[in-house]
Amino acid sequence: MNELTKVTESTAVEAKKPVLPDAQTVTVVKHWTDRLFSFKCTRPASLRFRSGEFVMIGLMGDPHPETGKQKPLLRAYSIASPSWDEEMEFYSIKVQDGPLTSKLQHIKKGDEIILRPKPVGTLVHDALVPGKRIWFFATGTGFAPFASLLREPETYEKFDEIVITHTCREAGELVYGAELIESLKHDELLNEVIGEGFWKKIKYYPTTTREESPKMGRITDLMRSGEAFKDLGVEPLNPDTDRAMICGNLAFNLELKDLFENEYGLEEGANSKPAHYVVEKAFLD
Ligand SMILES: Cc1cc2nc3c(=O)[nH]c(=O)nc-3n(C[C@H](O)[C@H](O)[C@H](O)COP(=O)(O)OP(=O)(O)OC[C@H]3O[C@@H](n4cnc5c(N)ncnc54)[C@H](O)[C@@H]3O)c2cc1C
Ligand SMILES: NC(=O)c1ccc[n+]([C@@H]2O[C@H](COP(=O)([O-])OP(=O)(O)OC[C@H]3O[C@@H](n4cnc5c(N)ncnc54)[C@H](OP(=O)(O)O)[C@@H]3O)[C@@H](O)[C@H]2O)c1
Repeated sequence: MNELTKVTESTAVEAKKPVLPDAQTVTVVKHWTDRLFSFKCTRPASLRFRSGEFVMIGLMGDPHPETGKQKPLLRAYSIASPSWDEEMEFYSIKVQDGPLTSKLQHIKKGDEIILRPKPVGTLVHDALVPGKRIWFFATGTGFAPFASLLREPETYEKFDEIVITHTCREAGELVYGAELIESLKHDELLNEVIGEGFWKKIKYYPTTTREESPKMGRITDLMRSGEAFKDLGVEPLNPDTDRAMICGNLAFNLELKDLFENEYGLEEGANSKPAHYVVEKAFLD
């Protein structure tokens, strides 16, 4: 783990002189579809977080029409990078009339964003009791916290098997996640630190609902019919062995909660009271 702890002072030193409060400099931007992009930025030297947590990020809002004053326009964002990484990564929606993302989608390398260094969240290992298999259930940008946890050594130290399901409307919306999972095979640092072939513990189950792809359907329906378990070659979730984290739209989160509590007998956990599963909204409806 120590080899991975490389949050350096140089990150802050190399950054441009801050002009925004809590400014960080954008280092990479990648557009995945007309609705999705990801970017990296410098990491505040003092920021410590647990993989799976979220922070508030944003830009300065428009000047007030009378006073000309500008206020920060901030939104919650899951940190997509793991806790040991020297840079911060985010995976974002582009809402064309969204106050923040109508602007954020145009950021470029060298631009500055605001990053409030106060990480919080429930999708953390500390909120789960030990188990054998961990399930990550995501829709859309709900993949972001799992992009962090899939690169977190603790995930592999604590669990023998990691199942990641990602449900999106269209196939293009799965590409960020698919490429990230594929990249783990060739990640020399993680293979050395966690153990050669650590990624073989991952079972990846991507599905689409509105565009043709190798696996169609909502994960909730595929679980109810038993098809998902048959495809994955695993038994339905069981409180003795299985732990889970959920991050999707509100209806998805509620449907899975209902399945967990009433079908599989899992109990919801929290930072203050670890149990079998935890939930976080991917966005506010
Ligand atoms: C705990 C938490 C973590 C979050 N993490 C992320 C993240 O990692 N990546 C991310 O892109 N967003 C994330 N969000 C949503 C984010 O906070 C903003 O809502 C989003 O950036 C859009 O901001 P906006 O000002 O452009 O539009 P807003 O006014 O915030 O939203 C406008 C509408 O767009 C839709 N919308 C907003 N966000 C999304 C989304 N992510 N996917 C699909 N539809 C959406 C909703 O219908 C919403 O009512 C998170 C939200 C919460 C509560
Ligand atoms: N994705 C797009 O291409 C697109 C394009 C333009 C605008 N938008 C708008 O953007 C907003 C967010 O869209 P989004 O696609 O990012 O997110 P979303 O609506 O949360 O859908 C993401 C995925 O979750 C599935 N899902 C929704 N509710 C579920 C439930 N209860 N159980 C299981 N799965 C569930 C959806 O399946 P279903 O398809 O079956 O609902 C879809 O595959 C919406 O308001 C939408 O109108 C989206």
